[in-house]
Amino acid sequence: MSKKVLVTGATGSIATLAIPSLIENGLSVRAFVRNAKKAENLKKLGVEIFEGDLSNQEEINEAAKGMDSILSLTAAGPDAVAQASAITKAAKQAGAKHLIRLSAIKAAEDAPTENGRFHFQTDKEIIASGIPYTILRPHFFMQNLFMSVPTILEQGNMYWGMGQGKLGMIDVRDIADCIVSLLTNGGHEGEIYNPTGASSITFTEAAAIISKGIGKPVNYISIPIEAVGQALRSMGQGEWVAKLMMDYSKAYSANWGDYANDDVTTITGRKARTFQQFFDEVLSWGFKQPAKSNETVALA
Ligand SMILES: NC(=O)c1ccc[n+]([C@@H]2O[C@H](COP(=O)([O-])OP(=O)(O)OC[C@H]3O[C@@H](n4cnc5c(N)ncnc54)[C@H](OP(=O)(O)O)[C@@H]3O)[C@@H](O)[C@H]2O)c1
Repeated sequence: MSKKVLVTGATGSIATLAIPSLIENGLSVRAFVRNAKKAENLKKLGVEIFEGDLSNQEEINEAAKGMDSILSLTAAGPDAVAQASAITKAAKQAGAKHLIRLSAIKAAEDAPTENGRFHFQTDKEIIASGIPYTILRPHFFMQNLFMSVPTILEQGNMYWGMGQGKLGMIDVRDIADCIVSLLTNGGHEGEIYNPTGASSITFTEAAAIISKGIGKPVNYISIPIEAVGQALRSMGQGEWVAKLMMDYSKAYSANWGDYANDDVTTITGRKARTFQQFFDEVLSWGFKQPAKSNETVALA
């Protein structure tokens, strides 16, 4: 009988990449979604759609029943700790044998962002729960750079507040591959990983790769932290996200994210993708079919 997996955050950027491979690998997937209409593509793949909201403990309890493994994925935001706690409680009640948690870069009690502190609280609750767990704390997503496609096309500039800080940013496809490997092959229980991309790079280096790829000059302009908040507010993002990105920008500018490791290899058996690969295989698509600046990936 195939392994049964419950995936939360199933219509989000990571799960959307992971679920097709889980199905290809013969797993039986139940997707917890708050809007079944958004899950039509998943349904076509053979995914069982369970409509519910992570603010409702009974719904998530029901969804977790009979599941062997659970991928706990929540959106970054003020409700993340409560939502993740509901998933952990449901996993415990269902007797799940493996809980995979998507946490965030350097989650810690004293992390420089509320997102990092929230993830730490969730990770602590999972560790104390007694459920066999694996926690992934991935680095900044390369896919966040889709936000810069419109200004690169219009002005040849990309605006971020990272100074000349280096980041071991990761391709979301590698995070999805880690999840697929953990859910398909098992193992790694009781481990916390910090997956990164192949190397740690500045935004100036990223801009140079994009520039070469699209055949026109691309400048990275490092803007003041306050301007990061203003830009996000003008894109319609709320105060929580604006503050979050200001805090992340401050930390990254101080080189808080300057590390790269082999965690992707440890989990998947192959090397993490480079920024060049990400540009060639993913980001370049954005220059053929421009993304709208307020309709991209989650930033935190
Ligand atoms: N961006 C980064 O650089 C970065 C780096 C490290 C870690 N992270 C972490 O990655 C996680 C986000 O992953 P992601 O990018 O795959 O997510 P995402 O694209 O933001 O998607 C969030 C998912 O959660 C669902 N959701 C939100 N509220 C819900 C609710 N009340 N009930 C049920 N479902 C709900 C959304 O459903 P709808 O489709 O209906 O909205 C969506 O499926 C966060 O925990 C973040 O801290 C991000």
